[in-house]
Amino acid sequence: MTAAPSTVPDCVLVTGGAGFIGCNLAHRLATQGRRVLILDNLSRAGVEQNLAWLQATHGERIEAVVADLRDRAVVEACVARAQAIFHLAAQVAVTTSLDDPLADFAVNAGGTLGLLEAVRARADRPPLIFTSTNKVYGKLPGISFVADGERYVPRASLLAARGVNEGQPLDFVSPYGCSKGAADQYVLDYARTFGLPAAVFRMSCIYGPHQFGTEDQGWVAHFLKRVLAGEPITLYGDGRQVRDVLFVEDLVDAFLLAEERIDAVRGEAFNIGGGPANATSLHELLDRMPRLIGRKAVLRYDEWRPGDQPWYVSDTQRCTARIGWRPRVGIDEGLTRLARWLGSAEAAPAAHRIAS
Ligand SMILES: NC(=O)c1ccc[n+]([C@@H]2O[C@H](COP(=O)([O-])OP(=O)(O)OC[C@H]3O[C@@H](n4cnc5c(N)ncnc54)[C@H](O)[C@@H]3O)[C@@H](O)[C@H]2O)c1
Repeated sequence: MTAAPSTVPDCVLVTGGAGFIGCNLAHRLATQGRRVLILDNLSRAGVEQNLAWLQATHGERIEAVVADLRDRAVVEACVARAQAIFHLAAQVAVTTSLDDPLADFAVNAGGTLGLLEAVRARADRPPLIFTSTNKVYGKLPGISFVADGERYVPRASLLAARGVNEGQPLDFVSPYGCSKGAADQYVLDYARTFGLPAAVFRMSCIYGPHQFGTEDQGWVAHFLKRVLAGEPITLYGDGRQVRDVLFVEDLVDAFLLAEERIDAVRGEAFNIGGGPANATSLHELLDRMPRLIGRKAVLRYDEWRPGDQPWYVSDTQRCTARIGWRPRVGIDEGLTRLARWLGSAEAAPAAHRIAS
């Protein structure tokens, strides 16, 4: 372990801060007058636009270190300056993890462990929120589903009404599930074993402005972009898969509440998503398009993808109990706001690149 640096903490560290969620978080923090340090290697296509937008909007409040999470010296220097840490940098796609499991593991598990070591080395440890995923619960073994119209539902009505809580057994599926799940467990264990003030958010499907969604990750933005461009969408599976979608600004609210009330959340994992009120199947979401944006989706179908859950809805009651958080933005409003952003000049270059 390296010696604790003597740097005075002067900013909030957001790893992956140029990405979709990180950019929205950095924007909120800077809007509140806080200095933000972004550590991001800009490996996700399009995110350099997010960084340029943040810097143009907030000037010196946004500082960027363009580097890899696996660079221990850079991570230590960034952590030394952090008043709080939101750890979002990751290899984010299940499909990419299947192509290159070693790289996926090195970034998601190894990178997170390096970050935890840098926090452990500090005498005054800052709050740390880690962005895990509902994929740590795999395909929800032991729960059976039935098709009900255009959606799958669990047979157990209480589960259908409340969603999946944190008592659900872990079951890592796919290299991405394993690497994020390992990181999730390391964060919880560093809280337990070394006393780090750290919490884990197991997040469901997040959507909103600044999301450069593709077929591999960020499906809500991907669907909207395709429909707006009049291009076909390939559905893997039968389109009845259910997700509880959460608008990114609601997630940012939860991040900030968790940081503020870190003693109420430290050492725990929280399922975070739109919850039962914002659960939708892929078909049901697409059915909203004509009404919301005046266009209908053109659909194609292909085989289910590995690790794809037929139904996943978060039970967010633990989060509500600890920090008083509840999602506020409904699906219609969220989709309308995302569609507006996708049609704006901010999104234009990336939208063009993906469409071409
Ligand atoms: N978007 C969702 O629905 C969702 C759901 C569950 C969990 N998550 C998690 O939330 C976090 C943020 O997701 P997002 O949707 O904003 O993804 P994103 O791809 O938009 O953002 C991730 C950022 O990390 C950066 N990055 C990737 N590898 C890096 C590396 N080795 N070093 C430094 N930076 C690197 C990318 O350039 C990108 O800017 C991720 O950890 C993801 O696993 C997201």
